[in-house]
Amino acid sequence: MNERIIIVGGGIIGLALAWRLSQSGVAVTVIDAGAAVPPATPAAAGMLAPSFEELAGPISGALYDFSVASLKRWRSFAAELEAESGEAIDYRPFGILGVAMDESGAAALREAFEAVTALGGAVEWLTGDETRAIEAGLSDRVLAGVFAREEGQVDPRRATRALREAVSRRGGAFINARIRRIVRRGADAIGVETAGGDRIEGDRVVIAAGAAAAAIELGAAAPVYPIKGEAVALRARGDNLRCVVRAPGAYLCPKADGRLVIGATEVEEDASLEPAPAAIEGLKRAGAAAFPASGAYREVERWAGLRPATPDAAPILGPVPDGPEGLFLALGHYRNGILLAPETAAALAPAILGGEISPLLGAFSLARFKN
Ligand code: GLY
Repeated sequence: MNERIIIVGGGIIGLALAWRLSQSGVAVTVIDAGAAVPPATPAAAGMLAPSFEELAGPISGALYDFSVASLKRWRSFAAELEAESGEAIDYRPFGILGVAMDESGAAALREAFEAVTALGGAVEWLTGDETRAIEAGLSDRVLAGVFAREEGQVDPRRATRALREAVSRRGGAFINARIRRIVRRGADAIGVETAGGDRIEGDRVVIAAGAAAAAIELGAAAPVYPIKGEAVALRARGDNLRCVVRAPGAYLCPKADGRLVIGATEVEEDASLEPAPAAIEGLKRAGAAAFPASGAYREVERWAGLRPATPDAAPILGPVPDGPEGLFLALGHYRNGILLAPETAAALAPAILGGEISPLLGAFSLARFKN
């Protein structure tokens, strides 16, 4: 098979897809704008958290099922990726513990617990003491918790490195460029044109450029827009947490290298990559309220990234209705790009290679935004 597939976007979605496609024997070219476009993947903390992200909305059932399927897929995806790339990605399926620190927080957590249970999620309700039996360093002020023991996290930056390596080992190519538009011949997408006017041709084109897709002439309007998130990494002294903790105002993600990543804000209408000092202080305070030891940890990095959001908080996947043949979208994963990468790649690769649109994929078509 001598097909060439162009993937615009070198974040976790584009790379996971590039890896799966290259495993099928097709030639892939990943085009990424690098520092010219604000990233989402390296800014993510890496939670794999179907029970805790807000999966409500018009297609919440489909999104929840997709999230749970992707969570399950992460285990084999991580093992295979580490084996194929030779890189460790710090996949930590050690559970996620949501905690409440006052009565109204406990009531909200209980509501979320019941909603996830009704969707079929495997979550446990805990007393404050039971949360401290899982994470001894939690504050005495923690009143209640919800434990999703099958959930966890990965290191998005390490996963990106591993995916790039795995794609390279499969013969994939990388080009650093900003893309301006899709090149068409009649009804077909036959490539892309860079901001500098160069053409890169291929048999199919996939746009996985996150919020930056809004600047590409696609021949169809894809409603993807940025929502900024700020985060901070601390260097743990002594015992770090083991599982992810979701506390009021912050989540805490302990990494194998001894960092504790605390995130994240949600800021609309600000596409800058400057983390606001007050926002970072707020995250640290919220982190230390739930896990007091972190108040003495030294800061090692602060940053901001842009989540690719959509009007219903679900991704846009599949061919472009009434668009050029051979053009596919893998966009708008909003708060769940890391979680959804394996299932997105597994569902989209057959659609790109053979036109097979699974019912699950159909739920995320761009067509849902028409009218
Ligand atoms: N999934 C966590 C975040 O977007 O902040």
